[in-house]
Amino acid sequence: MPMSFRPLAVAQLLWSTLAHAIVSYGNVYPTRYFDNNAADPTFGSSYENSTSITLSSSQPVVTLDYGAEIAGFPFFVTTTNGTAAQIEVRYSESLVGLSHDNADGPWTFSNGLSNSFRVETFAIDDSGHVESFFVQGGQRWQSIRVLGKGTITLDRVGFRATSDHTDADKLPGYLETNNETYNKVFDLGGRVVQVACVDAGNAPSTWELTNAGALVRGQTTAQSAKGILLAPANYTLEFDTKIVRGGTGWRIASASQPFGPYFVLTSNYPDETTFTNTNKTLLPPNTLIVNSGWNIVNQTSLETPANKLFALNVSIEEGKWYRISTAIEVDGYRVLLDGEEIALVPLSQPDPAARFGSGSAYAGTWGFGGYQDHSTMFTNVSVTSDKGTRIYQSDLTSASTLVEYGVAPLEHSVCLDGAKRDRLVWIGDFYHTVRVVAQTTARWDHILGSIDLVLGFQVPSGIYAGFVPISPGMGTRPEYTEAYQGWQGLVDYQDLFLAGIGEYYRYTGDTAGLKKHWGKIKMLAEAKLAFVDPISGLVADTPEIKNPFNFLGPVNGSAVSGLFAFTLRRLAPLAVALGDAEAARKFNSTASKINDAINEHLWNPSLGTYSLGLDSPGNFSLTGVAWAILSGAANSSQIASSLLKLQELRFGPGYRTSSAEAESPEYQLAPNPSGFLLEALFQSYLNYGSDSATAASHLLGGLWGSMVNNDSYFSGASWEYVNPDGTPGLDLFTSLAHPWGAAPSYVLPEYLLGVRPTISGYKSFVVNPAVGFLGLTEAGGRVPTPFGPIKAGWTANGTHATIDVDVPEGTTGAFQVPPGWRIDRKSSAHAVKLVRGLNRIVLCSA
Ligand SMILES: *[C@@H]1O[C@H](CO)[C@@H](O)[C@H](O)[C@H]1NC(C)=O
Ligand SMILES: *[C@@H]1O[C@H](CO)[C@@H](O)[C@H](O)[C@H]1NC(C)=O
Ligand SMILES: *[C@@H]1O[C@H](CO)[C@@H](O)[C@H](O)[C@H]1NC(C)=O
Ligand SMILES: *[C@@H]1O[C@H](CO)[C@@H](O)[C@H](O)[C@H]1NC(C)=O
Ligand SMILES: *[C@@H]1O[C@H](CO)[C@@H](O)[C@H](O)[C@H]1NC(C)=O
Ligand SMILES: *[C@@H]1O[C@H](CO)[C@@H](O)[C@H](O)[C@H]1NC(C)=O
Ligand SMILES: *[C@@H]1O[C@H](CO)[C@@H](O)[C@H](O)[C@H]1NC(C)=O
Ligand SMILES: *[C@@H]1O[C@H](CO)[C@@H](O)[C@H](O)[C@H]1NC(C)=O
Ligand SMILES: *[C@@H]1O[C@H](CO)[C@@H](O)[C@H](O)[C@H]1NC(C)=O
Ligand SMILES: *[C@@H]1O[C@H](CO)[C@@H](O)[C@H](O)[C@H]1NC(C)=O
Ligand SMILES: *[C@@H]1O[C@H](CO)[C@@H](O)[C@H](O)[C@H]1NC(C)=O
Ligand SMILES: *[C@@H]1O[C@H](CO)[C@@H](O)[C@H](O)[C@H]1NC(C)=O
Repeated sequence: MPMSFRPLAVAQLLWSTLAHAIVSYGNVYPTRYFDNNAADPTFGSSYENSTSITLSSSQPVVTLDYGAEIAGFPFFVTTTNGTAAQIEVRYSESLVGLSHDNADGPWTFSNGLSNSFRVETFAIDDSGHVESFFVQGGQRWQSIRVLGKGTITLDRVGFRATSDHTDADKLPGYLETNNETYNKVFDLGGRVVQVACVDAGNAPSTWELTNAGALVRGQTTAQSAKGILLAPANYTLEFDTKIVRGGTGWRIASASQPFGPYFVLTSNYPDETTFTNTNKTLLPPNTLIVNSGWNIVNQTSLETPANKLFALNVSIEEGKWYRISTAIEVDGYRVLLDGEEIALVPLSQPDPAARFGSGSAYAGTWGFGGYQDHSTMFTNVSVTSDKGTRIYQSDLTSASTLVEYGVAPLEHSVCLDGAKRDRLVWIGDFYHTVRVVAQTTARWDHILGSIDLVLGFQVPSGIYAGFVPISPGMGTRPEYTEAYQGWQGLVDYQDLFLAGIGEYYRYTGDTAGLKKHWGKIKMLAEAKLAFVDPISGLVADTPEIKNPFNFLGPVNGSAVSGLFAFTLRRLAPLAVALGDAEAARKFNSTASKINDAINEHLWNPSLGTYSLGLDSPGNFSLTGVAWAILSGAANSSQIASSLLKLQELRFGPGYRTSSAEAESPEYQLAPNPSGFLLEALFQSYLNYGSDSATAASHLLGGLWGSMVNNDSYFSGASWEYVNPDGTPGLDLFTSLAHPWGAAPSYVLPEYLLGVRPTISGYKSFVVNPAVGFLGLTEAGGRVPTPFGPIKAGWTANGTHATIDVDVPEGTTGAFQVPPGWRIDRKSSAHAVKLVRGLNRIVLCSA
């Protein structure tokens, strides 16, 4: 029998759950290839779509470089000359990840509507076209190895792209300077929001429903939302399962995240279907493998405990239905196969300090999903309470199954926190994402879709009324809002989400798109207004929600207070536009009072900057300094003094986030908070006469330079974290395509070109460029607006500068003279009106 894998033969597919058609972005091909494993990125041959590569036992591996991060369905066009072969394909964002056992995966933190595994195996039994069932969310690198004695010719290899992959200079927003490093840093943003934003339709379900049950290929388990709501304890889960290839996998007593007792049962590995690269140490045949954490392997910095292996004395056949029962009992998890006990697994007592999990060895939901390259049918699921009552039943054939298990096809166009991980719509990251989109792709559908998705999950009542979940998953739907809680943590993410909406309005003036959401936006803003402490006037907590955790700094602190004041100021114009003048006045006046409180309680003259918080007066942070500036609380002398103090945080290629954190080789330099600081540094120079060039060029050349200067890690997109030695943080768990790390892509256009809206949607705008800043002699580019692009650019030497601004029809602007310059022609004017067509301004040094 040929080794092909024909899921369609299993049963007839049900298509009713496909809500959106796929949006085509064509095919992407490698740019280079290497005839070996440990590729040296300085060599390699250029790949044309006509390049043909033959792999055999004498030359089994080829490494392919796509040049920069791309996303899509991997495909292969092969010639076999009639001989079947197996290929193992590996994916990685960095070159370094390719040589790891599991490449840079697996992604066991969430299902993510993509392949959880970064190694996948294909049986190629005939010449032709083969495509993976799964999307690979993001990679620059791929390697292909022919297994055993096989021989295969790869006539074409690539990805059927699920995202746009346009070069930075062809996007609606673009910027270039005379500094190549800054140009590459700018380009990170356009790349990252192409690869990390996904169109409705371009993340199909990872489960396939058939009339015989759900066909689930090996992937991180997806949990029942009904099980999350029922929160049962001491129950028995039963289901029918048929292994199509390799094994079957399920989870009990789980959190909504895939964390909790996890069981993988392997088959007897028949020759006809078994891949020769199956790891028989990790997954011996006829064995039950059990873990109590994320999965059965460590993903570098996402660790899981050791596995427990139970060798069975029965042969587990493929293609045969078995009934499995797993009962949570006082002395363990009792697993039966067709009524016969195969294991009594000791209870997994959860670590009380663990951040994830159901918190109990006895309680939590259930889920399904096997290991890499597995393929399995599931049906007739039932859950029975310890009283013998049937509390759940499903044959996993109806369309509602995909929604219940959080693997429904994507029906909103959204921006994720990362292309390959976590693939969740994190609402804090969203703030940077909105602004990067504004200055690069201008794909507002991704922003509106994200807003719509997130607000769909708003909490209607209770102490968190108004809050939204901090990281809704792609395959989840608001039918199960109560199941997907997670608004209790990172309370300032609510502010960043609101500020992102305010930024969206500032760039687009889109009252039509936001009008229907105003009630919800206002409800969230009001929920957060309750956090203003009546005594300190700073942002702290509420009587019901005591001392919550924030991402950017402590309660009663400079960062969270400055951020909220800024957020309210960003929302006020939207409130006015939507006819809610009263809300606008309240937002404005609260923002002013918070700024006053920041100066009254947190400005620390002996420290020379703003204190971290009332409880930590001797510490300070870059987020506190940044938000004191961005909120408008800080004046010129406070800014000058704070920037001097900031030098104490300088560490490696960047800055520590807070003085309360120690320097160490494991320290994680943070591009997200550093992005707030970068904008504050440009404002300090332009508006407050501070000399922030040293700090700004350290961040741009150092922290962001790290992302573009080492080809072994270069993804073309911005990173999640950076180590002090300039390599990516968080080991291989990291995301090398994280929009939260792309602040330069909006800071440079808004301050180096200096184009910013003064009335929302660029109905009027200012051009206030940092001419000659950072030693630059040239900058130019285009800024997308609803009227078309505003093209702006300048050249400068020590004594003269020329600024050109090309204004589209329908808007007018004003040129503001930057510090250190004056308008030529002996004029004393500080502003020049900018009208349709080309405007030229000549400056000389002041
Ligand atoms: C291969 O590249 C050529 C030239 O760029 C292009 O015209 C052709 O359509 C490509 N073929 C495929 C299959 O994409
Ligand atoms: C198929 O046959 C051709 C012609 O003999 C040969 O060049 C090619 O290498 C063969 N490919 C494989 C995969 O065996
Ligand atoms: C196979 O699994 C074992 C046990 O987890 C592991 O030590 C080994 O590195 C794995 N081998 C490969 C090639 O993945
Ligand atoms: C993960 O790593 C830890 C620490 O090295 C080890 O104790 C544990 O057994 C590993 N887990 C697995 C599943 O290999
Ligand atoms: C589940 O069983 C354990 C052990 O017998 C017991 O301690 C616990 O109270 C039970 N939980 C519920 C909700 O019945
Ligand atoms: C294996 O078989 C024996 C007898 O055939 C039985 O007693 C035992 O419980 C079976 N199961 C395991 C896991 O050893
Ligand atoms: C599932 O349950 C139905 C109804 O009891 C039964 O007809 C069917 O055979 C079961 N399916 C499997 C695979 O056992
Ligand atoms: C915030 O500061 C005020 C004034 O010192 C204090 O009363 C309040 O308890 C503080 N809140 C928290 C959560 O620490
Ligand atoms: C809010 O404050 C800003 C700046 O102080 C001011 O320009 C604006 O008109 C105010 N808006 C409202 C609605 O009060
Ligand atoms: C700063 O915070 C750290 C960690 O909480 C603490 O150990 C240290 O004493 C604080 N330093 C000052 C000057 O308050
Ligand atoms: C570009 O910027 C980097 C980082 O600030 C700096 O090291 C380099 O000298 C600059 N290059 C030019 C040509 O200005
Ligand atoms: C700077 O540019 C102006 C205008 O192009 C030119 O007249 C002047 O000589 C230049 N100065 C230097 C130092 O190059």
